[in-house]
This record gives sequence, structure tokens and C-alpha cells, in this order.
Amino acid sequence: MPGTVVVGTQWGDEGKAKVVDLLSHSADVVVRYQGGHNAGHTVVANGKKFAFRLTPSGILYPNVTPVIGNGVVLDLATLFAEIEMLQENGIDTSRLMVGANAHLIMPYHQRLDVLAEKRRGDFAIGTTKNGIGPAYVDKVARDGLRVQDLLVPSRFRARLKAVLTEKNAVLTSVYGDEPFNEDELLALYLDDYAPRLAPYIGDSVAFVQRALRENKLVLFEGAQATFLDIDHGTYPFVTSSNPVAGAACAGAGVGPRDLTRIVGIAKAYVTRVGAGPFPSELKDDIGAGIVERGHEFGTVTGRRRRPGWFDAVMMRHAAQLNSLTELAIIKLDIFDPLPTLKVCVAYEIDGQRVEHLPAFQDQLERAVPLYEELPGWQSDTTGVRSFAELPENARRYVHFLAEQSGVEVSMLGVGPGRDEIIPMPAFTGPSAGAPA
Ligand code: GDP
Ligand code: IMO
Ligand code: MG
Repeated sequence: MPGTVVVGTQWGDEGKAKVVDLLSHSADVVVRYQGGHNAGHTVVANGKKFAFRLTPSGILYPNVTPVIGNGVVLDLATLFAEIEMLQENGIDTSRLMVGANAHLIMPYHQRLDVLAEKRRGDFAIGTTKNGIGPAYVDKVARDGLRVQDLLVPSRFRARLKAVLTEKNAVLTSVYGDEPFNEDELLALYLDDYAPRLAPYIGDSVAFVQRALRENKLVLFEGAQATFLDIDHGTYPFVTSSNPVAGAACAGAGVGPRDLTRIVGIAKAYVTRVGAGPFPSELKDDIGAGIVERGHEFGTVTGRRRRPGWFDAVMMRHAAQLNSLTELAIIKLDIFDPLPTLKVCVAYEIDGQRVEHLPAFQDQLERAVPLYEELPGWQSDTTGVRSFAELPENARRYVHFLAEQSGVEVSMLGVGPGRDEIIPMPAFTGPSAGAPA
């Protein structure tokens, strides 16, 4: 029965994996419901760092069945590399289930992503170049190849043939690029990949539904984040799926009433990778300091993340879009040395004070952030494990974020490690009393 969603509330890399790992302690199933290997989810467990791109972050716990849901787009080379890495680390990967309806990212998707970014010139999105967009295009156009097609070679062959004709025409005629060889792709997918993937393929929808009926704890692990959402993000500087919590239903095959706890993840500040509007962006030394102390470089692409102050306007919108039941604030420790902190509480747009996120992109691009200043705490919080022990100004900052966001805060991150977390004693939401 209890379905918990962990969802990013900013532009990604908020620390979702750390919270999923933490909650996996008492979970039975962890499901990825959208996105693909554009995700970079870092878990630091017992001093060892794992960076997951496709595998659900709960896999480190033997009590968890990790599931790649139907909403995910799957790059098999990346998945096999991840399985190998886990096995080398002594982790049992046989529990992993890959949904039969998940779509495959094919090598031509990856190539088309790179070429489309070049074509966009000054309007480039700054994608991860992993083929995510082109794979979702094919899914929606009904030209996609699904995981289950690998089990029926005649079907895979016929569908690939039909699709590849068009892909090669676009690659050669539009982009002047090399075509893909059909026989080589067939050999790779049917002779090499299919037998390796077969043991993992299953009816993930039936599995997750049964787990919920049996009152097991199912975690839905979001990738990317609310403002990278194809519908609700800063279009076109977004990803090609719906990371918002509601998409866990379609991406895993459950109903809205199965989602009882929605944990929003936010950094104590904001970062974004790639292009697009960012009202509270910091282009000064304070931003550079945050990047340095927070190691704000992409897990997947190594790109520098753009830093900024916490944006409460966006957070209020994210709280509504996801119906958050709670908020986890991560990386509070990165602010330890700062004398003063700012929080964006409203925007000024064309001389007007605006407290909600404008629907019109040109207004967001013109939005001037209005800040409230709070004193920093200038002391080391990384060893603190209870809210009462935090410096008064840190507590004040957390209370201010909760008040501004309109969401109760349930936990605070003060370091990358599994135990570097502070549960909020006053939290009364659905997770109250759950082991931290
Ligand atoms: P995700 O994509 O939302 O799962 O987040 P990422 O793994 O891409 O980025 C979060 C980064 O912050 C990772 O390097 C984590 O190890 C690290 N991290 C997570 N929580 C904390 C925290 O509370 N403090 C610090 N300093 N680092 C953290
Ligand atoms: P996690 O799950 C941060 C960004 C890219 C780019 C845009 C579109 O680790 O939070 P895409 O390759 O998806 O077509 O790129 O989305 N992006 C992310 N930024 N964290 C992520 O994932 C991201 N996944 C995609 O940088 O701006
Ligand atoms: Mg990440």
C-alpha cells in the first residue's frame, strides 16, 4: 500500500539518490519511473561512492528489489556496465527487474542527440548527449523499440528495418552523417544484448502492483527534476520526460491513490547544468565558492553546474506541482563558511512584485530576484546529528525555507555519507517515526 515518491524540486542533482538510499533501509521495492542514463545518482555508503545512472539507488540493500519501470528509456551498454560494476563490488544484481515496456535508446538516438545540439547553435539546450530526447520522440511517434521486442527476434528485426530506413535518410540527407549498418545493429542487439538482458526482463507493472497490494513499501525514484519537466520546466531547456511526482503513476503503472508520501528534495541552494533561465543565479565569487565546496560538477558529463541562491518562488510552485508531503534540504553544510545567506522570496517583473512562478517564459527571463538576507552560522555542521545541536542561525535558515516553501522539512543533509543526515524532530508528516 504505501507508495513513496522521491522527487527533485529544482533543476536536478539535489541529492535524490542519497535520500532514496536512506529510505531503502526499510523499503521492499525501488522503481525508476522516467528518464534514462542522463541521471547521475550518487550514493556514498560505508565510505564507498556509487554513481548510478540507470540502476535504482536502493540496489545496495539486499531487502530491496530494484525495478526499471516502463517510463524509463534504456541504454543497454550503460546498464551492462553498471551491472558489472555492482558485481565487482559484491552486490547481488540478480534481483534487478527491467520492465518489458521500457523503450530502448538505440545508437542512432545518441548520434541524433549530438547532431541536433549542433544544429541548434546558439539555442543549444546543453543536453547530456545520451539520446534521451530522440528516444522519447520515437516512443511518442510509435517508432520505438521496446525491451520486450528483444525477446521476439523476428519482431525486433522487422521493426528495426522499418525505423532504420528513416533514421539513415535523416542522418545522411539532413546531417550529411554516416548511416548505421542494419546487420551490425541486429548482431549487437539480438546476439549480444538480448541474451544478457533476458534474465532481468519482467512484468514490472504486475510486480509493483502486487507489492503495493501486499502492503510492501515501494519507493519511486525520480530522475532529473521539476523544472526540467517537459511540461512544467523551463521549456525548451528541459529534458524529454515528466520527472514530476504524478508521472510515477504512468511510468511505473500504478494509480494516484497508491502514492501516499511525496518527498521533495532540494539543495540549500540551487544548481543547474546546461542552458536556460535561472533568476537567482550567482555569477560571482560566492557562486564560485559554492561550486568549489559543493563539488558542483556533473556526475555524468563533468560539466560545471551553475550555482544560485535558494529560490522560494520556484519551490512553492514545485510543492504544488508534486503535492509534496515533505521537503528534504540537502547540502546545508556547504553554507558553513558563509557570513550571509540570501533567499529569493519573490521576483520583480516589469516593476511589479510577483510571488508566484510566471507561466510566460519571457517574464521569467526578465525576472529580477528579490532577496531576504539571513545571517550565516560560520561553523562546521558536518558532525551534527540532531536539529537541536545545529547553530541557531542554521535552524533559523531551515525554518525560513520551510515557511517560505509552505512545506514541512523532514530531514537535512550535512554531508554525502549515508549517516550525514539530521532528522527533523518536529516533523509530523507521513514519515514521522520512520528510521532515518
Ligand atoms: P541526484 O542526482 O539528485 O541523486 O544528486 P547527485 O548525486 O547528482 O548530486 C548530489 C551530490 O551531493 C553527490 O555528489 C552527493 O554525494 C552529494 N551530497 C548528497 N547529500 C549531501 C549533503 O548533505 N552534503 C554534501 N556536502 N554533499 C551531499
Ligand atoms: P539527475 O537525475 C541535472 C539536464 C541537462 C540539460 C537538460 C536536457 O542526476 O538529477 P537531456 O540529456 O535530458 O536531454 O538534457 O537536462 N539534465 C540534468 N541536469 N541532473 C540530471 O539528472 C539531469 N538530466 C538531464 O543538463 O540541461
Ligand atoms: Mg544527479
